[in-house]
Amino acid sequence: MAKKQQIQTLDYFKKHAGEWKEKAASDSERRFNVIKYRNQYVLDVVASRAATRSVLDVGCGTGDLVCDIAGMGIPATGLDFSDEMIDLAQKEASQRNLPTADFICQSIFDYDFSSNTFDVIAANGFIEYISYDERDRFFELAYQGLNPGGSLVVGSRNRLFNLFSLNSYTEKEISQGTAAQLLAEAVAIAAAPDITQLADLETAPLQPMDTEHTDTGIGVTTRYQYTPVQLMRLLNARGFSVRQIFPVHIHGVNPAFKGLHPEVHFSIAMLLQDYGYDHPSLIPYSSTFMVHAFRE
Ligand SMILES: C[S@@+](CC[C@H](N)C(=O)[O-])C[C@H]1O[C@@H](n2cnc3c(N)ncnc32)[C@H](O)[C@@H]1O
Repeated sequence: MAKKQQIQTLDYFKKHAGEWKEKAASDSERRFNVIKYRNQYVLDVVASRAATRSVLDVGCGTGDLVCDIAGMGIPATGLDFSDEMIDLAQKEASQRNLPTADFICQSIFDYDFSSNTFDVIAANGFIEYISYDERDRFFELAYQGLNPGGSLVVGSRNRLFNLFSLNSYTEKEISQGTAAQLLAEAVAIAAAPDITQLADLETAPLQPMDTEHTDTGIGVTTRYQYTPVQLMRLLNARGFSVRQIFPVHIHGVNPAFKGLHPEVHFSIAMLLQDYGYDHPSLIPYSSTFMVHAFRE
């Protein structure tokens, strides 16, 4: 029986599929396209691997990533529980004439991995919409569903960004007494030669279950955030080894200034994005981060 968070998520993404498609395709110079850069990171992972014969995109939305991968000649499957999202994804694949793009309308928690395994499993903008139990289950399923040597790529809202957003998220960390622990993690990341070695660092506890987030622009009240260390630890505990953490949507200004001058924020964010690979010290300033974990 699905819980309130997943019921709200399904309801939202059934009603807003068309809007999501526009967001994914947007090249406005007033809005940094997070979807595009998350997808680009997955494409970079695929390109960096010796061989990728199959990809699964969990919570594929309007299917842009699946279509880009199928366009590289790699069979790619998109799975999403919103039939409106899947309809748009299928239309895109047939318009682009991509016979190796395949879409399934189903919850990941009902998908049968016993007869399907993949070299890469991606999940962008997905783990924020599932409970902690479901997240653990998802990591277990992904482990089973990956071939040995397979890559799991997960995008996450970045809780460390709460330190620099200077808004109600920051106030919440201060009132919960977690700001100092988050700051210590940010400092350690900025100084670390290899942040994948930081999984044992002392950091803040996970956000309280069913925590409510306002003003996220999405009508789902609980959208969890994680820190890089928290996610590394959770993945390590499920048998993965984390290869890389990559910042997406790096902020040079806080969201209040961004609201007043979106074009200034956009220019800075675009400029900084190019430095993402070589400067993990930018991670605390990014509102999203990507994790590339490996199944040995
Ligand atoms: C924020 S959208 C991201 C879409 C796409 N990955 C992207 O980056 O553009 C999250 C998607 O996850 C899907 N989703 C959420 N929970 C799911 C579940 N349990 N099984 C399958 N899809 C799910 C939603 O329907 C929605 O399309």
